Amino acid sequence: MNSFVPTTPVYARGNASPTASMLTPCRNSAESCSLAPASKEAMAACHRSLHKFRRGQPQSCRKLFEEGFPIDYNGDLLSPARDLGLVERQGVTWATTYRLTWLRELIVVTDHFTVRDPDRVFPLSEDESLLLARGLVVLPGDSVLDIGTGSGILALCAARKARRVVAVDVNPRALAYAQFNSALNGFGDRISFQQSDVFTEVDTDDQFDLVVSNPPVIPAPEGSGFFLHSDGGPEGVQVSETILRGVADHLSSDGRLQMLCTSWSRAENELTLLKSMPDGLARCWNCRVQELYPEPLSPIQLLLEHFSEVSSFDSWHQRIESSGFERLHYLYLELTSRNGLVSPTEPQEVCADRWNGSWARRLERLFLAYRQMDNL
Ligand SMILES: C[S@@+](CC[C@H](N)C(=O)[O-])C[C@H]1O[C@@H](n2cnc3c(N)ncnc32)[C@H](O)[C@@H]1O
Repeated sequence: MNSFVPTTPVYARGNASPTASMLTPCRNSAESCSLAPASKEAMAACHRSLHKFRRGQPQSCRKLFEEGFPIDYNGDLLSPARDLGLVERQGVTWATTYRLTWLRELIVVTDHFTVRDPDRVFPLSEDESLLLARGLVVLPGDSVLDIGTGSGILALCAARKARRVVAVDVNPRALAYAQFNSALNGFGDRISFQQSDVFTEVDTDDQFDLVVSNPPVIPAPEGSGFFLHSDGGPEGVQVSETILRGVADHLSSDGRLQMLCTSWSRAENELTLLKSMPDGLARCWNCRVQELYPEPLSPIQLLLEHFSEVSSFDSWHQRIESSGFERLHYLYLELTSRNGLVSPTEPQEVCADRWNGSWARRLERLFLAYRQMDNL
């Protein structure tokens, strides 16, 4: 398999070389983030030196790669990352608009929160990806399908034990980052990547022991231009429903599904998403659902405020109201076959500083980042 590295620094739109004044966090564009091949050795050297840099300079590492600010640094541990285009250097000042997340030995490159393009690659933070990544139940030798792979984080976690992993995403930019991350973390050809709208390009004969997904789940009016990674269609369940409808065709007889999703409920509190589960699936599989953010209020008001300027807002709002929806739930959903071998564990909490624990705060942060970009 090819390895991939970003060829172009991403300080600003266009192809200008960075100057000192450009070494500030700034959005990048889809075009300026094309990824290109690099050798296995170069990727491994970069991985090693980034770990060393983080161990030796934890605060600078956090400032540069998590907070997105330039740092002054005299050493040479960032040079391999610069050779791959992940960071830029101007004298002693280093900067990047990529966000790097460390998950034990894994390093995962995503876009930064400052990127506003709809095809932005989902930045990892105090969010549900890490929760699911920690809670994945992968058995040695498993064959795994990751739907909506984004940066590839779930595929990378699964590939530690799995025999093979197939990672699909509709967004080519996400696939390029995921391939880069697979190569950076030394997974060689254990993960294969495919552009696909959910199952469309997944071979119907291909059966998986585990299907995992953290799909887009935020309800958004049509034409909102919202991030592809979060736009779950008018009710937020477009991709989740497609997964639930098709998953049985892709699971082996004792396979399982671990996914995140949202679902509305009405006054009687029944989760509407579960109604989209085909009868056969509901009969033959055990289903466990856990609410991630057990807050008394759902963040509907935040959604309404955020999308109020979108031209299709009125019809979307009317649709939500006339459906009788009262609460929007953020869920962890697990299906196991009745003869399944595995008794999955509870999804574990990620370390406290990485888990926000509040659905409303989580959404506020997503929307705030989006609005701030209008001021750039
Ligand atoms: C919330 S992000 C999750 C990314 C990554 N799996 C994670 O957990 O961090 C959702 C991902 O689903 C992808 N996606 C959106 N619609 C899709 C579709 N119809 N088919 C496949 N992938 C889709 C987005 O491009 C995005 O990468």
